[in-house]
Parts: sequence; C-alpha cells; structure tokens
Amino acid sequence: MTDALDQLRSMQAADLPVHGGRTLAYVYDSGLPDIDRIGREAVAAYAGSNGLDPTAFPSLLRMETEVVGIVADLLAAPETVVGTVTSGGTESVLLAVQTARDAHPEIDRPRMVLPSTAHAAFHKAAHYFGVEPVLVPVGPDFRADPATMAAAIDDRTVLVVASAPSYAHGVVDPVTAIAAVAAERGVRCHVDACIGGWVLPYASRLGRDVPAWTFAVEGVTSISVDLHKYAYAPKGTSVLLHRTPQLRRPQFFASASWPGYTMLNSTMQSTKSGGPLAGAWAVLTSLGDAGYERLARDVFEAVDRIAAGITDLPALSLAGKPDSTLLALTTDAGCDPFTVCDEMAARGWYVQPQMSYAGAPATIHLSVSAATLPHVTELLAALREAVAAAVASGPVSVDPGVAAFIADLDPRALSDDDFDGLLAAAGLVGEAGPDGDLALPQRMAEVNAMLNLASPAMREALLVAFLDRLTRPRRS
Ligand SMILES: Cc1ncc(COP(=O)(O)O)c(C=O)c1O
Repeated sequence: MTDALDQLRSMQAADLPVHGGRTLAYVYDSGLPDIDRIGREAVAAYAGSNGLDPTAFPSLLRMETEVVGIVADLLAAPETVVGTVTSGGTESVLLAVQTARDAHPEIDRPRMVLPSTAHAAFHKAAHYFGVEPVLVPVGPDFRADPATMAAAIDDRTVLVVASAPSYAHGVVDPVTAIAAVAAERGVRCHVDACIGGWVLPYASRLGRDVPAWTFAVEGVTSISVDLHKYAYAPKGTSVLLHRTPQLRRPQFFASASWPGYTMLNSTMQSTKSGGPLAGAWAVLTSLGDAGYERLARDVFEAVDRIAAGITDLPALSLAGKPDSTLLALTTDAGCDPFTVCDEMAARGWYVQPQMSYAGAPATIHLSVSAATLPHVTELLAALREAVAAAVASGPVSVDPGVAAFIADLDPRALSDDDFDGLLAAAGLVGEAGPDGDLALPQRMAEVNAMLNLASPAMREALLVAFLDRLTRPRRS
C-alpha cells in the first residue's frame, strides 16, 4: 500500500508551485526555505489546538495578542486599537461589514459605499448580511473618487470602503479624502489593506511614494491586513483592526441559548485550528522587522524592474501606476491577453487573467513576490515570447453559435440542461464517464474569451454551474 504522504506529494505535483517565484497569483513566496519550514512546523504543532476557547489554550491567546500588537505598530495605530486574527482576507472583510451593520440596528436597509474596484469579498458580505452595495465608479487612474463617494453616502450608509491597494489594478485609493467625507457624515471607513497592508509600510520606509492610508489618517475606523499574503505566513491568517474597542464590540457573538457551553466567538468560525495562527506567529517572529524590510527591498526591486521591462515590450502596457506589488497589464488590439496567459503557463509562469469590467478592458494580473527577484530577466523574456506568440496566433474568436447560445441564456434561471448544452457547444465535454466528465482544455484562452463576452451576472451563473460540476464526489 502506498504511503498517504507519498500519495499527497504525487497529487501535489500537478498543482501550481508555491515556491520558486513563478506563480504570480494565489501564493506569496519569501524565497526563504527556512522560513517556510518554520511556518509549516508551527502549523503542524498546533493543528489540533482549538482557538474556540482562549482560556483553554492560553498560548493561542498570547500569540493572537502579540500578532495584533505587531500589526498595530506597523499601521501607526493609536493605543486604543484592538484586533482579531481571522482565517483570511474575506473573513476580515465579512466581519468589518457585519460589525458596521450591527452597530446600527436602527437602520432598516443598510448600505455600504464601495468603489467599483473594491474586492469581491464586499459583494459576498453584501450577499450574506443583506447590506446593499452602492457601487461608485473610479477615475481613469482606477482610484476611487472621493467626491463621488461622498455624494453616494446617505442616511442608510453604515460603511464606506477604500482599498490599499485594489487587487485588480494595484493602486491605493485616496484614503485621506475618503475617510474625511465618511467621518463628516459619522460613518465608519474601512481600509481594505488585505493585500498591501503588510508591505506598504515598508515601501514608505524605503522612501517610495505611498498615499497615506493607515490609522494615521483621521476617520479610518478599521483596517484589514492579511498575513498569508505579504507577511509570507502559511495560508489561513488575516488581521482585522478597529480603532477602538467600542467600534469592535458588535463583531463579537455570544449564545447561551442552548444547554451546552456558552458559545463565545470573535470570528465567523467557532472551533478553529491553532495551526495558522501559530504558523503566522512563528514566521513573524523569525523574520522580524529587519527581515521584512529586506524582503520589501527585494519585492520592490522586482516590481520596478518588471514595470520598466514592460515599457520596452511591444503590445503590453501597465494599466495604472502601481503603488504596491501588484501589476495589471493591458494588451494592444491584436494581442489577446488570455492567450498571453496561456503562453506564459506553457513557459512555466502563472499570470492571472482578469475579465473586462465596467468598460475597462481585460488585463493580466501579477502579484510579485520577493522570490521573483532572481527570475525577473526570465520573466521578461517569457513575456516577450508569450506576446509574440499571441500576436502570431491572432485574436481568439468565440464561435458565433456559442456566443448566440450564451446571449439567449438567462443567468437567473440557468439550468443543468443549459449548462450541458453550452459545454457541448463549446466542445468541453470529455468522453469518459456516463455523464460526460468535464474536459478542461490545456489552453484556457477560448474559455476565457467566452466568459469575457458574457455579462458579469452570466459569468457568475456559468462559473457556479461549473463549480457544482467540478465538486461532485468521487465514489468507488
Ligand atoms: C484587497 C483584497 N481584499 C480581500 C481579499 C480576500 O482575501 P482572501 O483571498 O484571503 O480571502 C484579497 C485577496 O486577494 C484582496 O486582494
């Protein structure tokens, strides 16, 4: 019988690599094997500990308060600040929205004002908590416009949001002006620094030009910062900070309305593994301030070299001037961005396709890691080849029959039969299995081009149907 761990290793070989600096989304790589080892061992040591009850596992409480303290220092937080370690950026965002909503039980149909570039986690929060998202268009530089945001605030607004930076374009919103208009109306202002919160303070320290966004900005009431991104911690930790304990109070949940233990939670989870928190604590403690400053130097050197290299490449340009470690690339007409992504994958690089949205064209996303620095020359060479190949193969066309099929579908009533029909029309049904297994093509450009044609609502419906198919159980 094969050892389970051998089986895992062999299954994992088909996944995107998490080390090596060539996966430019989903993973963040310090390039330091010792740090990864320490993180992994700490996760394993605490995998069975339960953060549900901090009095039963006092070491977890100590780690949490220390981690929150470190983040508070990094973000110029006042003495009053409090925080919670959550499972990730989405949970921090969900809790920020739930807390803002529950601070105003008197508001019947609460709303939140979001720049159109705010992370999808806010739409998830809107969906879960019944808070209406009021979407405000951003300026031509992809930054939120404080005047339009101010005009969107009304008596039902419980939260105003800014990003530092936005995921899709990597730019920091004008937080000072946005927080000021929120404060003027007595509304909370959350800064979503999930992806930039750890690295931007080091960027400022290194003399880079970063717009103000921390608790030093008056009117900012809460900030989310992920540790499993640019703190290079193992997956499963983010921190949600509130300026005062009063602002945080509605985040907590207690229930004594049953015969068991009184449930008392600071997060959405109740039982929660101590592993991710221990992993983050161990990585933070091992790297220390000097370690993070070195990693920030490396990642920004990589960002600058990639950004400069892009300007020399034909058919590619930067969408927006990056404030942090994220780049969005646009392509000239005649160079299909989705084909560039496929061509990069064929050369061992993962870059992420981003669909066209609200009049802005499709782009290619790169989250740059410190570990990418030694490979920048190879990355630029791969991009040059990928662009040449995409230009040579010409635009990706969606079969008119498939386009017409999609145009006729109603996203609110997409049935299994509709989805099967689309799979068949698009040639995505495999031969194996009685129900026809999904046959994912090696190259995704055609599928992405098809999704890019569809409305956002249709994209959502198609991908939900896809996920449903993908996650059917394997039975023996
Ligand atoms: C700005 C921002 N907010 C929230 C999130 C959600 O984080 P997670 O994927 O950890 O749930 C992300 C993820 O990339 C992000 O970039």
